[in-house]
Order: sequence, then C-alpha cells, then structure tokens
Amino acid sequence: MKKCMQAEIVEVGLGVRSYPILIGPGLIARAGAEIAARLPGVRAMVVTDANVAATYLEALRASLSATGIQTTAITVDPGEKSKSFETLQRVIDGILEARLERGDAVVALGGGVVGDLAGFAAGIVRRGMRLVQVPTSLLAQVDSSVGGKTGINMPHGKNLVGVFHQPKLVLADTAALDTLPVREFRAGYAEVVKYGLIGRPDFFAWLEKNRKAVFAGGEARIRAVAESCRTKAEVVARDEFEAGERALLNLGHTFGHALEAAAGYDAARLVHGEAVAIGMVMAHRFSARLNLASPDDAARVEAHLKEAGLPTRIADVADFHPDASTLMSYIMQDKKVSRGALTFILTRGIGQAFIARDVPASEVLSFLTENNPQ
Ligand SMILES: NC(=O)c1ccc[n+]([C@@H]2O[C@H](COP(=O)([O-])OP(=O)(O)OC[C@H]3O[C@@H](n4cnc5c(N)ncnc54)[C@H](O)[C@@H]3O)[C@@H](O)[C@H]2O)c1
Ligand SMILES: [Zn+2]
Repeated sequence: MKKCMQAEIVEVGLGVRSYPILIGPGLIARAGAEIAARLPGVRAMVVTDANVAATYLEALRASLSATGIQTTAITVDPGEKSKSFETLQRVIDGILEARLERGDAVVALGGGVVGDLAGFAAGIVRRGMRLVQVPTSLLAQVDSSVGGKTGINMPHGKNLVGVFHQPKLVLADTAALDTLPVREFRAGYAEVVKYGLIGRPDFFAWLEKNRKAVFAGGEARIRAVAESCRTKAEVVARDEFEAGERALLNLGHTFGHALEAAAGYDAARLVHGEAVAIGMVMAHRFSARLNLASPDDAARVEAHLKEAGLPTRIADVADFHPDASTLMSYIMQDKKVSRGALTFILTRGIGQAFIARDVPASEVLSFLTENNPQ
C-alpha cells in the first residue's frame, strides 16, 4: 500500500477542550506545519530527554523553524527521576526565561516521563499554557499523551502531584518507535492489549493475529496505536476527571502497582508495562477464581502476552519473590478500603472488564497466597 504518509486522526471529544491525535510515520518532520496550521503565531518550548534529543530534537526544531515557529528547548535526564519538583522548576524557569506567553506552546517530545513533566509545567505556568504532545514511546502514544493527566512523583508515591491539562494536539510519529528499545516496545504493547481486554474483544482478536506486524511497523502498527487511542479517547470523553468509568483503564494496575512497589520501582527488574502484563493475567485469573469468568480466557490472555515476550507470572521476573502479605499491604495502600472490601477492575471475559466495588480483602489475600506459595 502506498498511502503510508497519510496520518490517521482520532478526535478526543471534550467540548471546548477537544483535540485531534494524528498517528502515522513522519509526523516529527511535519510537526511545524501541523502546529502552525492549528496554532498560528505560536512560539514553542520543546521539552525532551537526552535519549530522545539525540535522535529527534534537531529534526523537530528544523520542522518548527521551517514554518517560522520560534523555538527554545530544554533537555532533561532520561528516566522516572526527572518527574520531580527540581526538574519541574528547571522547565518552568526555562519557559519564563524564554518569555513565553500563555498562548505559546510547550511541546513535549519523548516518552511518558517527558509528557507528564512538560504537561504539568504547561498546566501551571501562567495558569495554563498551550500543550502539544509529541509522544515517542509506544506507551506514550497509546496512553500517557492522551487524556490530560500530568504530574510528578513525590517521596510518598508516584504521580501524587499534578493537574488535568488537555493538549491542543497530539502528534504520534509511529516511525519514531523504530528506535525504541524492544523491552520498552513490549511494555507499551501491554497497554495496547489492555484496551482489547477492557471493552474491545474484536481488537484483542485482531492483535492475536497481527502482533508480529504491529511490532514490525507499517500499517498494522498505525492501526494498533489508532485503535488504542480511540478506545482511551472514548472512555476519557465520558469521564474526563475519573469520577467512574475511567477507572476501567486501571485493569491489571492494582496488582501491577503492588508488584512495581515490591520490586522497589527498579526498572532494571520490572518496568511498568511488564508489571501490568502480570497484573492483567492476575486480574483474569482472580476473576475466574470468583467464578465471574472462564479460566480459558485467562489462559488466552496469558498466551498472547507470552508470545509478545512479556512476563505473565511473578516467577518470570528474575530474583523476585514478594510474599503475599507484602503484596497485600501495597494493595491496601493503593486502595480505599471500606469495611474490608476493595474496589477492583475485574472481568466477565475478554473485552468485558467492569468496576467491582465490593471485593473482599480476604479473597484477594487467599488468591495471592495460593498463587505465590513461598
Ligand atoms: N499521564 C498519563 O495518563 C500516564 C499514563 C500512563 C503512564 N504515565 C507515565 O508515563 C511514564 C512512563 O512512560 P514511558 O514508558 O514512555 O517512559 P519514559 O518516558 O521513561 O521512556 C522510556 C525510555 O525510552 C526512551 N525513549 C522514548 N522514546 C524513544 C525513542 N523513540 N527511541 C529511543 N528511546 C526512546 C526514553 O528516553 C526512556 O529512556 C511514567 O512516569 C508513568 O507514570 C502517564
Ligand atoms: Zn499503565
């Protein structure tokens, strides 16, 4: 097929805060034209990390200046540590030194770390500047750049300080994923699978057939990113501030967060998407244990994630033996517990996740104990 320069467009429908997500190869090179067409006269502060800057910053700057967009850039250290007050202040100082106004744009070029950090700065400088997300990791393209959550970490925990601040435009250059380390690609793929499992059994079945093509690039990758963004956009449009339904996006994340915490947030051992992969299998198996879903569905989910090269059991993580009570204590910290009952995302089968508000803590502990004998 020869229409490969064409971008898919997914609209996030949020009334006056609506915006398009453009998805396709070559969008970094076209960023200047796309931004100038939608935000005429804007000046830009590009925020990126050192890994991404090495390959993409010059291309983005060249594209912006070719359309007359005056640009400054700030490069932060790669990694979760940059989601800190210290780095936030550096970004804010840079924006103010460049004398950018409220109508100017912060352009986040990078993975979810850069997107959350730069998005937060855009949300609070001058009470809210324009934001353009240029996500370069698969996780950022299908998840963190969509939906307006921004923020930084605190010693008390991840993402505890932040604001909702929707971008004006998202440019997801799918060719930029060619340079993403394969482990990071797989981790983002876990979130892609999540959208199928939440409410799109047809998409999950499509992924089962097309996984290799998605990893290879081209049309299948564009479609996987677009379907993921469409699914997230629909949920966000119905529940922007997470009063209810948006919690479905946390499928696999309660178990996953507990695993990440137990691994000391050490990315060398376990990255977020890997924890989510194990967590999603646990959520399906736990649902089967509660007689809500068939164990065959859990097996099907596990088989697919395994084929994608993701861990699906705690035992798949090297030198990692968290006991059930440790995991349980992290789960209790993560959750509001009322009268011994927890809110969990459970499922009735593939593509049929739901919010269960009355899961007995004792059932969770038994499940963890049975599944993780010491
Ligand atoms: N705001 C939200 O709704 C939301 C949702 C999910 C996750 N998040 C946040 O996202 C963050 C994780 O995002 P992430 O997984 O993208 O991590 P990341 O931003 O740390 O990127 C992962 C690694 O890949 C590198 N990288 C990125 N793009 C690259 C490319 N094209 N080529 C080569 N290397 C590249 C980065 O430099 C980094 O080393 C977490 O902080 C998480 O809390 C936010
Ligand atoms: Zn996630």
